[in-house]
Amino acid sequence: MTEVVVHGSRFFNEDCIGGCRRHIADTSVDLIVTDPPYGIAGDTLHKHYNRDEDFVIDGYVEVPADAYGEFSHRWLREAARILKPNGQLYVVSGYTHLYHVLGALRAAGLQEVNHIIWKYNFGVFTRTKYVSSHYHILLYEKPGSGKRAFNLEARYGLQEQDGEGGSLNYQDREDVWIINRDYKPGQVKNKNELPVALLVKMIQYSSHPGDWVCDPFMGGFSTARVALGLGRNFVGFEISQAAFDRGVKALGAITPGDLLDTLPTPEPQALANQGKPWDAAEIAAFLERYAALRAAGVTKKDAFATLSGEFGRGRWAFERILKRYGGVSRQ
Ligand SMILES: C[S@@+](CC[C@H](N)C(=O)[O-])C[C@H]1O[C@@H](n2cnc3c(N)ncnc32)[C@H](O)[C@@H]1O
Repeated sequence: MTEVVVHGSRFFNEDCIGGCRRHIADTSVDLIVTDPPYGIAGDTLHKHYNRDEDFVIDGYVEVPADAYGEFSHRWLREAARILKPNGQLYVVSGYTHLYHVLGALRAAGLQEVNHIIWKYNFGVFTRTKYVSSHYHILLYEKPGSGKRAFNLEARYGLQEQDGEGGSLNYQDREDVWIINRDYKPGQVKNKNELPVALLVKMIQYSSHPGDWVCDPFMGGFSTARVALGLGRNFVGFEISQAAFDRGVKALGAITPGDLLDTLPTPEPQALANQGKPWDAAEIAAFLERYAALRAAGVTKKDAFATLSGEFGRGRWAFERILKRYGGVSRQ
């Protein structure tokens, strides 16, 4: 076992299941973001992606397919133990062992928040069936009496629109994510290294600066680098010595918080009238504007985004008014 501490964050070269038991206290982690081994002949997996073998680091430790169910139960029990109440966990999973992961999440007492589809480029080429070009990202929460972190306007303010008047905030929070893998010609990478943009999104929405983020399967240390870059603390495990040594070396280039300056600044706008009672004139004006937008072909979602700016109120307030005064609201 080796432990390396960098910028107050902790990196362990050992099996994450025993390692968590030995080093991580109960209810001490705010967020887990991880991409466990897929259990599908990992040592040949990268060949499907037509990559140059010289640039893929060795030492990826795979889990035999017939042990995958038990393995999932064991690491997810530890994950549930170390999470704080209302702490969250993102697990990236392929399709093959998804049923094991879903069963183990439930058995560990975690609750589903979202089942996200991540669509990426470089799908495995096939001639006899559809090309597989997505992964599953399972967002789960440890039950608790508090509030789960979800930074609604971490990336886009509720009023921010694209060039066609669509809500950027809404689009960014849809549960299908189209994010391409980082293309790193000529650079060494871990097999299946997760893109920075994907990790930034998960960590930005579901944690705060200073929180503890954990990745039990660090691989190329991508989660670690992004967590530190976003000003979070980090603790993680990697069983392969080769991958661990490489990852630790790359941490030298990181300055905590250095990613924060590279991110677009959202333009959150307080909803000026949130919580205030509606008067009759405002209700009439809202119903008229809503009907006009819908008659002009604007979708309900986009109409709400527009009207939110005009009326200083949010979607649920509009839903309530439509239900009460506007007849059945059109989807
Ligand atoms: C899919 S990769 C993670 C890739 C990583 N997210 C990245 O972006 O580079 C899974 C990693 O888990 C490691 N691993 C496998 N079994 C492990 C265990 N029991 N404890 C810790 N690490 C393990 C593998 O060696 C591999 O590097």
